[in-house]
Amino acid sequence: MKTLDELIRGRRSHFVKEFNGLPVPDDIIARMLENARWAPSHKLTLPWRFRVFEGAEKTALCSAMEQYYMQNTPAELFDERKLAKICTYAFKVSHIISIGFVPSGKVPEWEELAATATAVQNMYLTLTDHPHAAGYWTTGNGAGTDFMQQQTGLPENGRQLGFFFVGMVDEKRYEAERPH
Ligand SMILES: Cc1cc2nc3c(=O)[nH]c(=O)nc-3n(C[C@H](O)[C@H](O)[C@H](O)COP(=O)(O)O)c2cc1C
Repeated sequence: MKTLDELIRGRRSHFVKEFNGLPVPDDIIARMLENARWAPSHKLTLPWRFRVFEGAEKTALCSAMEQYYMQNTPAELFDERKLAKICTYAFKVSHIISIGFVPSGKVPEWEELAATATAVQNMYLTLTDHPHAAGYWTTGNGAGTDFMQQQTGLPENGRQLGFFFVGMVDEKRYEAERPH
Protein backbone atom coordinates (compact mmCIF):
# COMPACT_ATOMS: atom_id res chain seq x y z
CA MET A 1 0.00 0.00 0.00
CA LYS A 2 1.29 3.46 -0.92
CA THR A 3 1.95 5.97 1.82
CA LEU A 4 0.27 9.38 1.76
CA ASP A 5 3.55 11.02 0.73
CA GLU A 6 3.95 8.55 -2.15
CA LEU A 7 0.40 9.20 -3.32
CA ILE A 8 0.80 12.98 -3.25
CA ARG A 9 4.23 13.00 -4.89
CA GLY A 10 3.38 10.23 -7.36
CA ARG A 11 0.34 12.06 -8.71
CA ARG A 12 1.01 12.82 -12.38
CA SER A 13 -0.78 14.42 -15.27
CA HIS A 14 -1.14 11.94 -18.13
CA PHE A 15 -1.99 13.40 -21.51
CA VAL A 16 -4.25 12.35 -24.38
CA LYS A 17 -1.34 11.04 -26.49
CA GLU A 18 -0.64 8.56 -23.68
CA PHE A 19 -4.22 7.24 -23.51
CA ASN A 20 -4.78 3.82 -25.12
CA GLY A 21 -8.48 4.35 -25.85
CA LEU A 22 -9.77 1.74 -23.39
CA PRO A 23 -12.70 2.74 -21.16
CA VAL A 24 -12.09 3.77 -17.57
CA PRO A 25 -14.34 1.63 -15.33
CA ASP A 26 -17.42 3.49 -14.06
CA ASP A 27 -16.55 2.76 -10.43
CA ILE A 28 -13.32 4.80 -10.81
CA ILE A 29 -15.28 7.78 -12.15
CA ALA A 30 -17.79 7.40 -9.30
CA ARG A 31 -14.93 7.30 -6.79
CA MET A 32 -13.36 10.43 -8.30
CA LEU A 33 -16.64 12.32 -7.96
CA GLU A 34 -17.32 11.06 -4.45
CA ASN A 35 -13.80 11.97 -3.30
CA ALA A 36 -14.18 15.42 -4.92
CA ARG A 37 -17.20 16.00 -2.69
CA TRP A 38 -15.01 15.61 0.41
CA ALA A 39 -12.95 18.69 -0.46
CA PRO A 40 -13.11 21.66 1.89
CA SER A 41 -15.34 24.67 1.15
CA HIS A 42 -15.89 27.77 3.27
CA LYS A 43 -19.37 27.67 4.84
CA LEU A 44 -19.72 24.29 3.22
CA THR A 45 -21.09 25.84 0.05
CA LEU A 46 -19.95 22.86 -2.07
CA PRO A 47 -19.63 25.26 -5.04
CA TRP A 48 -18.17 22.83 -7.62
CA ARG A 49 -20.21 21.54 -10.52
CA PHE A 50 -18.79 18.55 -12.34
CA ARG A 51 -20.47 17.06 -15.37
CA VAL A 52 -19.32 13.78 -16.81
CA PHE A 53 -19.38 13.34 -20.59
CA GLU A 54 -19.10 9.85 -22.00
CA GLY A 55 -20.32 7.96 -25.08
CA ALA A 56 -22.29 10.08 -27.56
CA GLU A 57 -22.20 13.13 -25.23
CA LYS A 58 -18.42 12.94 -25.09
CA THR A 59 -18.21 12.69 -28.88
CA ALA A 60 -20.45 15.77 -29.20
CA LEU A 61 -18.29 17.72 -26.74
CA CYS A 62 -15.13 16.74 -28.68
CA SER A 63 -16.81 17.98 -31.87
CA ALA A 64 -17.55 21.25 -30.06
CA MET A 65 -13.83 21.51 -29.19
CA GLU A 66 -12.93 21.02 -32.87
CA GLN A 67 -15.50 23.63 -33.85
CA TYR A 68 -14.14 26.03 -31.22
CA TYR A 69 -10.60 25.64 -32.54
CA MET A 70 -11.62 26.15 -36.17
CA GLN A 71 -13.76 29.19 -35.47
CA ASN A 72 -11.54 30.95 -32.93
CA THR A 73 -7.99 30.41 -34.11
CA PRO A 74 -6.54 33.30 -36.12
CA ALA A 75 -5.37 32.19 -39.58
CA GLU A 76 -1.70 32.88 -38.77
CA LEU A 77 -1.85 30.59 -35.70
CA PHE A 78 -3.96 27.84 -37.23
CA ASP A 79 -2.14 24.51 -37.02
CA GLU A 80 -3.46 21.43 -38.83
CA ARG A 81 -1.54 19.18 -36.40
CA LYS A 82 -3.29 20.76 -33.43
CA LEU A 83 -6.66 20.20 -35.12
CA ALA A 84 -5.69 16.58 -35.89
CA LYS A 85 -4.83 16.14 -32.20
CA ILE A 86 -8.22 17.46 -31.10
CA CYS A 87 -9.81 15.00 -33.55
CA THR A 88 -8.21 12.11 -31.58
CA TYR A 89 -9.94 13.07 -28.31
CA ALA A 90 -13.22 11.31 -29.14
CA PHE A 91 -11.62 7.87 -29.36
CA LYS A 92 -8.63 8.29 -27.00
CA VAL A 93 -10.32 9.94 -24.02
CA SER A 94 -12.66 7.73 -22.00
CA HIS A 95 -14.52 10.38 -20.00
CA ILE A 96 -14.40 14.17 -19.95
CA ILE A 97 -15.38 15.79 -16.67
CA SER A 98 -16.31 19.44 -17.07
CA ILE A 99 -14.98 21.47 -14.14
CA GLY A 100 -17.01 24.44 -13.00
CA PHE A 101 -18.54 26.16 -10.03
CA VAL A 102 -21.55 28.28 -9.18
CA PRO A 103 -20.95 31.11 -6.68
CA SER A 104 -23.18 30.82 -3.64
CA GLY A 105 -22.92 34.53 -2.77
CA LYS A 106 -22.09 33.52 0.81
CA VAL A 107 -18.31 33.87 0.47
CA PRO A 108 -16.05 35.69 -2.03
CA GLU A 109 -16.03 34.08 -5.44
CA TRP A 110 -12.30 33.38 -5.33
CA GLU A 111 -12.83 31.12 -2.31
CA GLU A 112 -15.27 29.01 -4.29
CA LEU A 113 -12.79 28.77 -7.17
CA ALA A 114 -10.12 27.69 -4.66
CA ALA A 115 -12.47 25.12 -3.13
CA THR A 116 -13.19 23.72 -6.61
CA ALA A 117 -9.46 23.33 -7.25
CA THR A 118 -9.09 21.30 -4.07
CA ALA A 119 -11.93 19.06 -5.27
CA VAL A 120 -10.07 18.56 -8.55
CA GLN A 121 -6.96 17.56 -6.59
CA ASN A 122 -9.02 14.86 -4.89
CA MET A 123 -9.96 13.54 -8.34
CA TYR A 124 -6.32 13.61 -9.41
CA LEU A 125 -5.27 11.71 -6.27
CA THR A 126 -7.98 9.11 -6.78
CA LEU A 127 -6.38 8.28 -10.13
CA THR A 128 -2.94 8.01 -8.52
CA ASP A 129 -4.30 5.05 -6.61
CA HIS A 130 -5.13 3.13 -9.82
CA PRO A 131 -2.48 1.30 -11.90
CA HIS A 132 -3.87 2.31 -15.33
CA ALA A 133 -6.56 5.00 -15.01
CA ALA A 134 -5.06 8.46 -15.54
CA GLY A 135 -5.83 11.99 -16.60
CA TYR A 136 -5.23 15.68 -16.34
CA TRP A 137 -6.87 19.05 -15.95
CA THR A 138 -6.81 21.08 -19.16
CA THR A 139 -7.68 24.74 -19.44
CA GLY A 140 -7.31 24.67 -23.23
CA ASN A 141 -9.95 23.70 -25.77
CA GLY A 142 -12.17 26.73 -25.21
CA ALA A 143 -12.32 26.28 -21.44
CA GLY A 144 -13.90 29.23 -19.66
CA THR A 145 -15.60 30.66 -22.73
CA ASP A 146 -19.33 31.41 -22.98
CA PHE A 147 -19.45 28.77 -25.71
CA MET A 148 -18.12 26.03 -23.39
CA GLN A 149 -20.25 27.33 -20.54
CA GLN A 150 -23.29 26.56 -22.71
CA GLN A 151 -21.93 23.24 -24.01
CA THR A 152 -21.35 22.00 -20.47
CA GLY A 153 -24.72 23.13 -19.16
CA LEU A 154 -23.54 25.59 -16.52
CA PRO A 155 -25.99 28.33 -15.53
CA GLU A 156 -25.22 31.91 -16.52
CA ASN A 157 -23.73 32.82 -13.14
CA GLY A 158 -21.47 29.75 -13.17
CA ARG A 159 -17.82 29.66 -14.21
CA GLN A 160 -16.36 27.01 -16.44
CA LEU A 161 -12.80 26.19 -15.37
CA GLY A 162 -11.75 23.54 -17.84
CA PHE A 163 -11.94 19.83 -18.37
CA PHE A 164 -10.56 16.77 -16.66
CA PHE A 165 -9.66 14.28 -19.39
CA VAL A 166 -9.67 10.70 -18.13
CA GLY A 167 -8.32 7.67 -19.97
CA MET A 168 -6.43 4.42 -19.55
CA VAL A 169 -2.66 4.26 -20.03
CA ASP A 170 -0.52 1.17 -20.54
CA GLU A 171 2.04 2.35 -18.02
CA LYS A 172 1.82 5.05 -15.40
CA ARG A 173 4.52 7.68 -14.83
CA TYR A 174 5.21 8.61 -11.23
CA GLU A 175 8.49 10.49 -11.41
CA ALA A 176 8.61 14.26 -11.82
CA GLU A 177 11.00 17.09 -11.24
CA ARG A 178 10.15 19.89 -8.87
CA PRO A 179 12.50 22.89 -8.86
CA HIS A 180 13.69 23.79 -5.36
C1 LIG B 1 -5.40 24.71 -13.41
C2 LIG B 1 -4.56 23.78 -14.25
C3 LIG B 1 -4.66 23.84 -15.62
C4 LIG B 1 -3.90 23.01 -16.44
N1 LIG B 1 -4.05 23.11 -17.80
C5 LIG B 1 -3.28 22.35 -18.59
C6 LIG B 1 -3.40 22.47 -20.01
O1 LIG B 1 -4.24 23.21 -20.54
N2 LIG B 1 -2.59 21.71 -20.77
C7 LIG B 1 -1.67 20.86 -20.23
O2 LIG B 1 -0.93 20.21 -20.96
N3 LIG B 1 -1.56 20.69 -18.88
C8 LIG B 1 -2.35 21.43 -18.07
N4 LIG B 1 -2.26 21.26 -16.70
C9 LIG B 1 -1.39 20.20 -16.14
C10 LIG B 1 0.02 20.73 -15.87
O3 LIG B 1 0.71 20.85 -17.10
C11 LIG B 1 0.73 19.72 -14.97
O4 LIG B 1 0.07 19.69 -13.73
C12 LIG B 1 2.20 20.07 -14.76
O5 LIG B 1 2.92 19.89 -15.94
C13 LIG B 1 2.88 19.23 -13.69
O6 LIG B 1 2.80 17.89 -14.01
P1 LIG B 1 2.17 16.86 -12.97
O7 LIG B 1 0.69 17.21 -12.84
O8 LIG B 1 2.37 15.50 -13.57
O9 LIG B 1 2.88 17.02 -11.65
C14 LIG B 1 -3.01 22.08 -15.86
C15 LIG B 1 -2.91 22.01 -14.46
C16 LIG B 1 -3.67 22.84 -13.66
C17 LIG B 1 -3.56 22.74 -12.16
